Amino acid sequence: MGNFDKIVNLCKSRGFIFPGSDIYDGLANTWDYGPVGVELKNNIKRAWWKKFVQEAPASYGVDADIFMNSKVWEASGHTASFSDPKMDCKSCKTRHRADNLIEAYSKGKVNPDVMTNEEMEQYIAEHKVACPKCGKSDWTNIRNFNLMFSTSRGVTDEGQNLIYLRPETAQGEFVNFLNVQRSMRAKVPFGIAQIGKAFRNEVTPGNFTFRTIEFEQMEHQWFCKAEESMDFYHEYKKKALDFLLSIGFSAENLRYHDHDKLAHYAKAACDIQYQYPIGWEELNGIHHRGDWDLSRHQEFSGKSMLYLDPFTNEKYIPNVIEYSIGADRLTLAVLCEAYDEETLEGGDTRVVMHFHPAIAPYKVAILPLQKNLSEKANEVYSTLAKHFMVTYDEAGSIGKRYRRQDEIGTPMCVTIDFDTLENNTVTIRDRDTMEQIRLSIDELVDYVSKKIDY
Ligand code: GAP
Repeated sequence: MGNFDKIVNLCKSRGFIFPGSDIYDGLANTWDYGPVGVELKNNIKRAWWKKFVQEAPASYGVDADIFMNSKVWEASGHTASFSDPKMDCKSCKTRHRADNLIEAYSKGKVNPDVMTNEEMEQYIAEHKVACPKCGKSDWTNIRNFNLMFSTSRGVTDEGQNLIYLRPETAQGEFVNFLNVQRSMRAKVPFGIAQIGKAFRNEVTPGNFTFRTIEFEQMEHQWFCKAEESMDFYHEYKKKALDFLLSIGFSAENLRYHDHDKLAHYAKAACDIQYQYPIGWEELNGIHHRGDWDLSRHQEFSGKSMLYLDPFTNEKYIPNVIEYSIGADRLTLAVLCEAYDEETLEGGDTRVVMHFHPAIAPYKVAILPLQKNLSEKANEVYSTLAKHFMVTYDEAGSIGKRYRRQDEIGTPMCVTIDFDTLENNTVTIRDRDTMEQIRLSIDELVDYVSKKIDY
């Protein structure tokens, strides 16, 4: 069993992530975050917001609606061309993405991003690329499959309007460019950030939460002058990497992947890939989108997107540098990065999640050595819970309780013993080193605060 399967199993057994609609045998590719997972994901989102809004001068947050006027998706190009090249296996009737088939067949040596649909069909036919399900090579032609989920809005059957569940959060930032600029008296360059749900009817979802049909994105658009845009593009590439390093990723598991094939309006694009147990895969994207988005919204809405520079009196439509990362895909990468199996003295092994303390689900576990110490232990719990997420466990041997906390990555365990009643001190055990020190209860809040600061 590879580490990926072990991580998926741990996620279910320890309350990180459960299969969606579990008691009804699930719904394919939907996942629910459990009590531990929701803390982890919220902490990751908070860390992102801190870096890209709170600590970033001239960046403003928004929380736009999932439903948007359908003209938005015409302007953005999603109605016409947000699609995957799908092929059906005529033999077993399963559906696949032609680009994925080529990538898997060539073991990553051929890049389907630079191929047309006809070139992909030709490659698949010439190499007799087999269906991963049944092994035959009997394919339909490629058809482009639009990934947007649609629904209808209206109270009568006649008056129904087709609307879409947004496939990216970015458009909520673009359509609010004027609102944010005016209400915040923002001067270019400035940024708009958002965290929210997005939906895509993916042809081949899978690999746990890596590619799903409902997911959260954390996106940031930086509006700037064309002349300065390339410098900002490089700055955002670096910022995106620095953010990942700051929440505990090691540099050797991350790499830049510059795109060979660019959208016609794009000046540059790059992914940061992470080495998941399933291989190197995209974690986030940084895109230089020129003035495409605002120009298109100007054209389709009829509202001027021209910015008047108050210093030079120049009028221009700003360029956009987009940074986009999936909160769920990042949470999965964090889980993979943190997972470790250690052999201990005496031959035992322990599974431990080495989360950066700032994003660990619980910061502290309160563990009374015996049940009759629970009154004092609850007192300590209440004191700490005012400041941090804290968990409490009094069931089972202390060794087993430490292991449970290691598996959910709690950085500090506080044990309450009989000395605590005598002198108001507790023992703190460090998750990574397993070393223990003795500390006064009065010092605990300060001690934990310093440990989780980043
Ligand atoms: N606004 C640009 C945009 O949406 P994207 O490369 O399609 O660009 C950005 O998506 C990020 O969103 C990806 O790098 C990935 O982290 C996440 N993402 C995209 N599709 C996803 C899916 N089906 N499931 C989970 N995460 C996804």
